[in-house]
Amino acid sequence: MRLVILDNYDSASEWSAKYVRNRILTFNPGPDNYFTLGLPTGSTPKGMYKKLVEFHKEGELSFKYVKTFNMDEYVGLPRDHPESYHTFMWDNLFKHIDIIPENVHILDGNAEDLQNECDEFEKKIEEAGGIELFIGGIGPDGHIAFNEPGSSLVSRTRVKTLAQDTIEANARFFNGDISKVPTMALTVGVGTVMDAREVMILITGAHKSFALYKAIEEGVCHMWTVSAFQQHPKSTFVCDEDATLELRVKTVKYFKSLMYVHNKLVADLEENPKAKKQRISQD
Ligand code: GLP
Repeated sequence: MRLVILDNYDSASEWSAKYVRNRILTFNPGPDNYFTLGLPTGSTPKGMYKKLVEFHKEGELSFKYVKTFNMDEYVGLPRDHPESYHTFMWDNLFKHIDIIPENVHILDGNAEDLQNECDEFEKKIEEAGGIELFIGGIGPDGHIAFNEPGSSLVSRTRVKTLAQDTIEANARFFNGDISKVPTMALTVGVGTVMDAREVMILITGAHKSFALYKAIEEGVCHMWTVSAFQQHPKSTFVCDEDATLELRVKTVKYFKSLMYVHNKLVADLEENPKAKKQRISQD
């Protein structure tokens, strides 16, 4: 596992966007070789999406051969509701880039048969060849997607009842009115995310610092579902200084000493022939 510690929210957003850009460019996707990306919602990834849009607008990055799968969606919220994850994803990313709408996959929280919708989602991921890079955010209780405390660490996409903590945390998106927050959601499972070839988790803010501590300094535990990624062969946690408040000084120092290695992963690929090739094919 890598822990990448940046000064603040903006630099964490920039680092993660550059990482995604470089992964897509070096993968060099094409019509027979799509890059599959798992995506989160929430306030945390907004800065990363903004940067990715900038990279696209500057002609650095195309999403023409990218397929996306979102982590979760509320049950029962109309698709065009301002707080649905459909609306969030189109407003913050998809409508600003050249992704082909058929390549966007978001669970339908209004499907007649919710479990069937979840099973079909798993099938679509499989048909797409699995997820190359799954990006996730967490709740202050350490949940990944909507895998609330106590979720099975081998769970697959399914219907979940939201924890009271999550409902309270998300009330800010519903004018602070708890009664307006949906109580159920469709979510990928921890096992679904674990199957991705690579996982990147974004954690910013002091209110997530206890969760980060549980995620990386204590054992794997289903009460902090994000801790499951200790057992993933390739995971990166990207955080800001505030999120490290509960970590040991020793842990922070250790990972900071590796920043010169981590920063190579986000260096400009100007001289990378594969990256150049993708840029030319966009013109
Ligand atoms: C919700 C989502 C999670 C997300 C979390 C954190 O619970 N289901 O996928 O990671 O919110 O949101 P924020 O980034 O706004 O703190």
